Amino acid sequence: MARKPPDDARRFVPPDATLEDLAAAAKRCTACPLHLTGTQTVFGAGAKRARVMLVGEQPGDQEDRAGLPFVGPAGKLLDRALADAGLDRGEAYVTNAVKHFKWVPRGKRRIHSKPSAMEIQACHPWLEEEIRVVGPEVIVCLGSTAAQALLGKAFRVTKQRGAFVPSNLAPYVLATVHPSALLRAPDEAARHAEYARFVEDLKLVARVLAR
Ligand code: URA
Ligand code: SF4
Repeated sequence: MARKPPDDARRFVPPDATLEDLAAAAKRCTACPLHLTGTQTVFGAGAKRARVMLVGEQPGDQEDRAGLPFVGPAGKLLDRALADAGLDRGEAYVTNAVKHFKWVPRGKRRIHSKPSAMEIQACHPWLEEEIRVVGPEVIVCLGSTAAQALLGKAFRVTKQRGAFVPSNLAPYVLATVHPSALLRAPDEAARHAEYARFVEDLKLVARVLAR
């Protein structure tokens, strides 16, 4: 017998929704267990008609408290890299593949825990709706979770980063590393090299926008 498909966020999505409608509806989403661990739904934010959409993994500790994506350490690094690539975060729309913070306790700290394939899938309708409403020209997947959510499980960021890939989601779709991977570089030299490569990937986006 076929197994019952797992729940997903589709039933929480209002018809013909605007971004504001979607953000409001997502606050009440209980389609996966992460609504129990996260403080609040962290929906995407940014320019409504952005030409670029940046997709991360899931909110982190600070995002969970603030209710906004990429405002913590990874967000600061992202802001700097965007600026160095000649992109303006204020003109982009920034979101995540999963809208609730998944964490495990370590002492008093909340340590990031990777969302499962099922959680990514459950949350996918929100991301799909954001793409539909914003209609970006370029989508940038930041790290493997976003790439998995939008480009499929077989996509390998390590092998396929920094090149536009054919997709019906937007005219230009690209994956690169997640900025928090740069924070984990083993030493200063590696951090420098990885950062430079990340900025190079983002410059490809700036080139498209300059057309
Ligand atoms: N990491 C992410 O993937 N998204 C955020 O919003 C913050 C950190
Ligand atoms: Fe809904 Fe996504 Fe939160 Fe799961 S993570 S409860 S699918 S908003």
